[in-house]
Amino acid sequence: MRVLGIETSCDETGVAVVEDETVLANLLASQVQLHERFGGVVPELASRAHVEALTPLLEEALEEADCGFGDLDGVAVTVGPGLVGALLVGIAAAKSVSLATGAPLIGVNHLEGHVLANAIEHGPELAPAVCLVVSGGHTMLVHMPEVHSYELLGQTVDDAAGEAFDKVARFLGLGFPGGPALDRLARTGDPNAIRFPRAMADSGDYDFSLSGLKTAVLRHVKAERDAGREVDPADLAASFQEAVVDVQVSKTVAAARDRGVDTILLGGGVVANTRLRERIDEAGAEAGLRVLIPSMDLCTDNGAMIALAGAWRLRRGDRSSLGIGADPSLELGADASSELG
Ligand code: KG4
Ligand code: ZN
Repeated sequence: MRVLGIETSCDETGVAVVEDETVLANLLASQVQLHERFGGVVPELASRAHVEALTPLLEEALEEADCGFGDLDGVAVTVGPGLVGALLVGIAAAKSVSLATGAPLIGVNHLEGHVLANAIEHGPELAPAVCLVVSGGHTMLVHMPEVHSYELLGQTVDDAAGEAFDKVARFLGLGFPGGPALDRLARTGDPNAIRFPRAMADSGDYDFSLSGLKTAVLRHVKAERDAGREVDPADLAASFQEAVVDVQVSKTVAAARDRGVDTILLGGGVVANTRLRERIDEAGAEAGLRVLIPSMDLCTDNGAMIALAGAWRLRRGDRSSLGIGADPSLELGADASSELG
């Protein structure tokens, strides 16, 4: 089954073509330079940039996949969660392709895309698993007894992990997007230099809290400065990152044990974090668990994960009508294919 995937939920325009789990083309137009000077994503600018990027990307992706519009067996598009204006650009494009070619349209949940992205490199046997989904807008632990079936175990009660990385990075003057820059800086620092609080580490549930950690970082720097000392930014970055990763790794392993699954699966932009990848690999090996992590390009937003998730949905008979709309706060497990606009 050959499926086109369109992803425009935030600041990356992603267009891909997959054939079952094989990626034939996976192109990305990044808007980082556009939003950089504002220190964050400006929704209106994001929508316009998606409009400009989409048509040339569609043509390029089909050319790279060596197929025409008429060869598509389906058109998959992110319908949420994300920025409503940005989502609508992708949805309008997907509807046009579906209407013009007769290929069925399928609305995809962005979070399911992040989870199923693992199938591209690790094959279709993903479930049963416990999934850690960490991105710019989400931080959650989910039990997936079988593919397409999700039980939310816990989530952040305040900031998302990516948001915390971005805020601390901005405080350190690392620019936008902050996550990757903080990760790079942390590599030269000592993760044990400063002992930041491990919020909710012993809360006995699978929830997370990240806003207190961000405040602890700011307080620490202020206290040191007041005492006439400067803090090494690399040590600060590494110690902050360690506090985030510590809690995520221990809760993920605990959830896998609790639900009796052998597989831990990671998805979302924050999974590009070097330290998280290292630590979850180590912890998984120690606990005898299979750990699935997508490669860097498939962790952050991309069209291939949407195309693959759409292909799997189409294969089991799901279809969306041309009346489908965007749902900015769509939850994992909600039926993305029938969101009405
Ligand atoms: O999944 P994603 O690409 O977009 C959303 O769906 O939100 O995730 C983006 C988030 C941003 O907050 C970004 O700073 C973070 O992922 N991120 C990282 C790294 N690469 C991206 N955070 C920590 N370390 C990284 N290497
Ligand atoms: Zn994402």
